[in-house]
Amino acid sequence: MFENYEVPKELIPSDPRFGSGPSKIPSEFVKSLLATGHELLGTSHRKPAVKNLVKEVQEGLRKYFNLPEDYSVVLGNGGATFLFDSIGLGMVEKKSVHYTCGEFSSKWYKAHNRVPWIEAENCAVEFGNGITVENRADADMICCTLNETSTGVIIDSLPEVDKDTILAVDATSGGGQVPCDISKVDLFFFGPQKVFASEGGLYIAIMSPKARARALKIAADDSRYVPDIMNWKTAIDNSDKNQTYNTPSITTFFYLNEQIKLMNRSGYAGVQEEAKRRAELIYNWAESKAYLSPFIKEKKYRSSAVATIDVDEKIDVNPLIARLAATGAVYNIEGYRKLGRNQFRIAMFHNITFEDLEKLTKLLSHAIESEL
Ligand SMILES: Cc1ncc(COP(=O)(O)O)c(C=O)c1O
Repeated sequence: MFENYEVPKELIPSDPRFGSGPSKIPSEFVKSLLATGHELLGTSHRKPAVKNLVKEVQEGLRKYFNLPEDYSVVLGNGGATFLFDSIGLGMVEKKSVHYTCGEFSSKWYKAHNRVPWIEAENCAVEFGNGITVENRADADMICCTLNETSTGVIIDSLPEVDKDTILAVDATSGGGQVPCDISKVDLFFFGPQKVFASEGGLYIAIMSPKARARALKIAADDSRYVPDIMNWKTAIDNSDKNQTYNTPSITTFFYLNEQIKLMNRSGYAGVQEEAKRRAELIYNWAESKAYLSPFIKEKKYRSSAVATIDVDEKIDVNPLIARLAATGAVYNIEGYRKLGRNQFRIAMFHNITFEDLEKLTKLLSHAIESEL
């Protein structure tokens, strides 16, 4: 199947990158980086050139998300996975409850479950279903994942939590595009390699005063051993000075800043609207073809950042995906490997254009229908 499939010229997208992570980095960003000459790359993160860049990122995010004045934008190395451990070690007092619906939310639960001095509880649904996040009186942290990248499920609403409870949201693949009122969230974190079109390895943790106070309180508790690299006080103190604790990738900050500037031109509401339009295109296409069906049945849980589309078993998607990659037309649209479904997983991140997604749908239909 598909070994000799030739992509019609008019259906070749302008950019082949539809992967759910890392995402497409616009080539213009790379050119702009080159244009910084000798002023940025190779400079210490304690020097003004880098500190100013970090400050611009922090201020750009404040503007984009319309953050309350008293929220902190904390940054550090290690990405979102690093935070799974450091949140468990340094921000939970006694118990966290995790609403899990896929690989990443489960991974976060497992990280907390390994911390000996806290309890972690898993409220799980079968992969492919959405989940409703609720307050829990017996927990001091509620954990959920804004966009479960492995299954394409979003959180459709957030609860009011108790006065001393931290509502923590992993926003890695949806943050910036999937609707979320951050003023209701205490800890909103992500890696910048998805909607924010940068490279991985960095984390951004937006913290309410309540989350900041909790992190500082636990950091001051000598009875808990937390490695220096995961010490929240150190991360917060450095971020307040527009720095990271240890040396960051400047390139990552640079691309992130370019993307924030770009997204600030449309604003958060505008970006969400554009995302909705792209998502409607993909899901309408999947519903219009007998051989396709959206993996997520309940519409309110369907992601506007990552679409998962099941394909009739008669058509094996693997050789098609391999063929499209070999021709250079389309990269990385396979389903999440551990799900093991006959599925396309298509990123609809901000920089992936409506026109390219439209071409992709036409191309996939053309290829499949040529075999039916
Ligand atoms: C929802 C979610 N959380 C966490 C991660 C892990 O991010 P990182 O690679 O920055 O550790 C990912 C990566 O794809 C993700 O999609």
